[in-house]
Order: sequence, then structure tokens, then C-alpha cells
Amino acid sequence: MQEQRQVTGSYWLQTAPEPPRPALTEDLDVDVAVVGAGIAGLSTAHELTRAGLRVAVLEAGRAAAGVTGCTTAKLTAQHTLVYDRLLRTRGPEGARLYGRSQSEAIEHAAALVSELGIDCEWETRDAYTYVRDRARVDEVRAEAKAAREAGLPASFTTETGLPFPVAGAVRMTGQAQFHPVKYLRAITADLVARGGRLYEGTRVVRLQEGGDPCRLTTGAGHTVTARDVVIATHYPVFDRALLFARLSPRRELVVAGPLGEAPDPQGMYITPEENTRSVRTAPYGTDGQRLLVVTGEHFTPGTGDARAGFERLAAWAEEHFPGVALDHAWATQDNDSTDTVPLVGPFHPGARHTWVATGFGGWGLSGGIMAGLLLTALITGRDCAWHGLYDPRRLKSVVREAPSLLRTQAEVARHFVGDRLKPPAPLDGLAPGDGAVVRADGGRLAVHRDEEGVLHAVSARCTHLGCLVSFNRAERAWECPCHGSRFAVDGTVLQGPAVRPLEQRDL
Ligand SMILES: Cc1cc2nc3c(=O)[nH]c(=O)nc-3n(C[C@H](O)[C@H](O)[C@H](O)COP(=O)(O)OP(=O)(O)OC[C@H]3O[C@@H](n4cnc5c(N)ncnc54)[C@H](O)[C@@H]3O)c2cc1C
Ligand code: FES
Repeated sequence: MQEQRQVTGSYWLQTAPEPPRPALTEDLDVDVAVVGAGIAGLSTAHELTRAGLRVAVLEAGRAAAGVTGCTTAKLTAQHTLVYDRLLRTRGPEGARLYGRSQSEAIEHAAALVSELGIDCEWETRDAYTYVRDRARVDEVRAEAKAAREAGLPASFTTETGLPFPVAGAVRMTGQAQFHPVKYLRAITADLVARGGRLYEGTRVVRLQEGGDPCRLTTGAGHTVTARDVVIATHYPVFDRALLFARLSPRRELVVAGPLGEAPDPQGMYITPEENTRSVRTAPYGTDGQRLLVVTGEHFTPGTGDARAGFERLAAWAEEHFPGVALDHAWATQDNDSTDTVPLVGPFHPGARHTWVATGFGGWGLSGGIMAGLLLTALITGRDCAWHGLYDPRRLKSVVREAPSLLRTQAEVARHFVGDRLKPPAPLDGLAPGDGAVVRADGGRLAVHRDEEGVLHAVSARCTHLGCLVSFNRAERAWECPCHGSRFAVDGTVLQGPAVRPLEQRDL
């Protein structure tokens, strides 16, 4: 029998270790509290600290270890085929502002790398969105035209560095790639050197707004008071504006390993075909070797077969880059907004001092840095040309969003109702390492059998809004298909929007 590919965890996180920072152990008063230390939260906190504000970042786990630590790590304004769509949905000005905001974010990061002397494997590369199917060439031509009209250095080409022919591609010159965790470790060091604070192992479980100041409560019961609060938890927690109705989670797989003798394709590549293939290389070791990183095979959390997906992705990489030694495999997820533009700005229509950054749709590295600049402008009372484009309260686009909003909600309803009608799995057939939802005491239990054969049971009811979780065997986690919450086999929250664990149960 073929051996299963091991999920090893992220190469980026393993190659930039750092001792944990202390958790918050007292009450605190700051100007701004940022919840979540991914690229969006840390970039925002860093900019606010540079602007002279007293800032604290509260992180449930480890900084940069969420989606940001598991990404492909391209920094580009080329977001697959976004500009042609933006031209139609937000007009030429919307497409232009999107391109400018993302490009300025990348330029800002480049300036910080130079100013702070950050060693984060920063490399300038051209970015390509390609198709191999001739029937899709017109889409790529339209994208090249729209991106160029939006002011970006884009052109149509059939020449790439890939080891196979393409029917057409958009080339965007002068983009970048980096080591995201090394970059954020240095940003954090500068944040702390300037008086900012980062608390790890500090989950925020309550937000009280409306008063002045806002008040946050941590899982350990400490209180943080702050004039402004930024929710940068990836999927927003404490969602008063019901933004989750406008977000759908998409889980995606990554394989990586030394490229060996295969030629380096030089650029950064992505195709919407084949359930997405995204390719880049990175410096590896000391003798000029390169690391190949390939991403793709996305699915709604709790629904796909991640094990089969890893095998398909690895087979694709090995076919096109013969000799590559894929020794890393990991997975992560991002949220698509219903109109494909991130939601960055005031948290809800009545918000005066609460802010959010979410819905990056697979492009939250430039998006997270952009969010840091935009939220800092808004919090410090400066104007920013693209605040309207990203404003989560945007109403004009709601009509345009209606079909995909309804689709997202129909999908949630299908899981909420349909998953309860599925026949529960029998426990006898549960193999070691596997998990299943079973019926017991009139409810549903999520049961995992560990390698020693011991059964572990938790409630199968997601603590966010009550959908039923299902088991991801490859990653040994319970996943909720409705809004993407993830839980360890003992019920601990791995990823929101849920903030409470699945209740432990006796079988
Ligand atoms: C496979 C894949 C590849 C990608 N590749 C690229 C790419 O090449 N380029 C690009 O631009 N984008 C890419 N993206 C997207 C990008 O990685 C994400 O959009 C971005 O990292 C999101 O950053 P974030 O700060 O919003 O979230 P995160 O990095 O997940 O940070 C959120 C943090 O909030 C913390 N948190 C959650 N709840 C709480 C709470 N209650 N209290 C305290 N803390 C909390 C979490 O622990 C986490 O650390 C990719 C995405 C995927 C899925
Ligand atoms: S994540 Fe919303 S119900 Fe589970």
C-alpha cells in the first residue's frame, strides 16, 4: 500500500523559530488594541506605533503562525484575474484604486525591508497568471488589458519560464516574493523597540464597544481598555455586522521541497485551471539551491479529501519539476468576500472606534500590509484615497453581490440542515487516526480514534452558529463547513470565527 504523505507543517514557520512571548497577565490600558497577530494585525500595529500611539497586540496562539505563516508568500498586485472583474463591478476608478493600493503596500514593505535591514529573502520577480486551455485565452487577454488600464505594468504573453507551454498569460513585471515569517519577526522587533506590545497565548473572548473606551476581555479574565480596537483575526470574531454572511472560507494545500536539478522557472505563477496551481521558488540552503513551493487543490473546510488533494498536488509538481524532493506539506485557508474585494475599515455601520480587516481572497499579504496603512490613516484621522473601495459598509455593491451572497448563504443552509440528515457513521469501522460524527444521547458527537485505539468524543455542534463539524483525516482536525472554524481532536479552537472549544463528552 502507498504510504500517506505526512503533513509536516509550514516550511516558513520551521525556518524562522522564535521563543514564545508572554501572555497578558494583568489589566491594560492602551490607545489601540489589535486582536490577531497575522500580517494584517502586525502591519496595523506597527504603523500605529510608528505614528506615536500606544498599541498592544493580543494573539490567541503564536504571532505569524496563522494563515500568514502558511502562505505561498508572493507579494504582488496581480491577483489572478481580478482587474477585468473589478472593471465590470467597480468601474475603471475602482480597478485603478485597487491596483494602486496593492502596489503602494508592496513598495511600503520594500522600503521597510531596506530601512530596517530586514533579512527576509526578498526577491523581485515577474508575476504570471496563465492558462493552458485555448478556450480561456480571451479571459487572460482581457485581464492584461484591464490591469494595464488600471496603471499596472501588465502585458499579454505566451512566453514564460514554466517547463510546459501555455496558451496565454498576463505578465506583471517588478513584483516581489519573500519569507513572510522572517519579515514579520523583524517588524515585531521594531514594534516592540518603539514601545508597542505583543502578547501571545492571549485569546480575546469578549468585546464591549459603544462606551468610550472600548473594552476587551481575555480568556484568562484580564481586561484591555482602548480607544480603538482592530479585529484582525482573519475570520472576524464578535461579528456585529454579520460579515460572515459575506465571507466564504476556502482551504488550500501546499507542498514544497528542494528543486534539485529541475530548472528554476524564475517567476511567480498562478492558474485558475486544475483547481488552482500556484508556483514559486525560494532560496534554500547555502549552495544556491532553490526551494519549490506549489499551492492548489482548494475545497470548503470540512468537505474535501485533503489526503487525495495532497497526492494530486505532489504528482503535478513531480511531473513538471522532475527530481524535486517534496519534503513539506501543509494546508491553510483564506476567506473570499462576496464581491472579491477585502473588507477593511469600520467594523459595522454604527462603529466609531472598532475596525476590521478580512476577506483577502488568497491575496492577504499585500492586502494585510495595505490594511495596516489604511487603518492607520483612518484611526489617526487622515484620508486615504481607497477607503471607500474597501469599506466593509459599502452598500452600492450589495445589489451586485446579491447572487453570490445568496449562493454563500444557500451553501451554509445546505450544511446546517443537510448535514443533520446524513446517516451517522458507525463507530465499529472507525480506523485509528480517523474520526466520524455519530449519534448519541439524542445529539451528534464528533468521535476520534487515536493511534492507540482510544476514542475521544466532543460535541459535533460548532460553537460559532451550530453547524455540524466533520473530520479532516490528513490534518486530524474537526472542520466546520459553514464558516470554516477548525478544532483540534480535543475540541480546542484552532481557527475562528468560533472562540469557544467543542464541549468534551463521554461516550
Ligand atoms: C494556500 C494559500 C496561499 C496563499 N498565498 C498567498 C500569496 O502568495 N500572496 C498573498 O498575498 N496572499 C496569499 N494568501 C493569503 C494570505 O496568506 C492571507 O490572506 C493572509 O495571510 C491573512 O492574514 P491575516 O492577518 O488576516 O490572518 P492570520 O495570519 O490568520 O492572522 C490572524 C491571527 O488572529 C489570531 N486570532 C484569531 N482569533 C483570535 C482571538 N479571538 N483572540 C486573539 N487572536 C485571535 C489567530 O491566531 C491568527 O494568528 C494565501 C492563502 C492561502 C490559503
Ligand atoms: S463556523 Fe460558523 S457555524 Fe461553524
